Amino acid sequence: MLGLFDSGMGGINTVRYLKRTGDDSDLIYLIDRQNAPYGIKTEEEILEITKNNIKALTAMGAERVLIACCTASTVHGRLPDKERGLSVPIVGEVAKRAKKLTRTGRVGVIATDHTVRTHAFAREMPSLSVTELGVSELVGMIDGGLCDLTARDTDRERIENIIRPVLTSGIDTLILGCTHFPAIIRTVSEIAKKYGDISLVDSAKVGAEILRGLKT
Ligand code: DGL
Repeated sequence: MLGLFDSGMGGINTVRYLKRTGDDSDLIYLIDRQNAPYGIKTEEEILEITKNNIKALTAMGAERVLIACCTASTVHGRLPDKERGLSVPIVGEVAKRAKKLTRTGRVGVIATDHTVRTHAFAREMPSLSVTELGVSELVGMIDGGLCDLTARDTDRERIENIIRPVLTSGIDTLILGCTHFPAIIRTVSEIAKKYGDISLVDSAKVGAEILRGLKT
């Protein structure tokens, strides 16, 4: 059996993508509401949370665990051997998709403040020009109920104001480097269109694809 965890609303997007493809496999999904949000915590706190969540999922019967969260994935290399061995982070795979998609080599990342502080995405794409923007504010808005269906004009304006610095940096590819953000992917996509032909990389979707690969 496979396990996955994320803070708050994040991993729900991953599970949704998986189910949409008709996948009915047995999963254990730990929705870590208690520790949300991760992205404004210290590295040590995120490490401790990640370790404990992997332990909890294996205690419940998971043989492999997807760290379905970009923020928690940044501490994968610091996990104790056992927890590192049976868990799979998502950041590297998400970056690979962006590398394939970009035509100009200019990639943007919106992620939590912690993920951006670690430069986890930029380090995966050393030969590209990567503009990273910490937007933990969006995580709070989404955990508070914001999604494409509920977004009003004022929410759209607020989102645009938050992500404008990355959209105006000449990118042709934007990584949604937090699995919460697919909840507003349509809104982000509409906003991004105003700034050019920008392709989006959805980290939750990549997580679902990794999970599918782990089963086979
Ligand atoms: N959804 C998570 C991520 O992919 C974490 C968001 C948070 O709790 O700050 O980074």
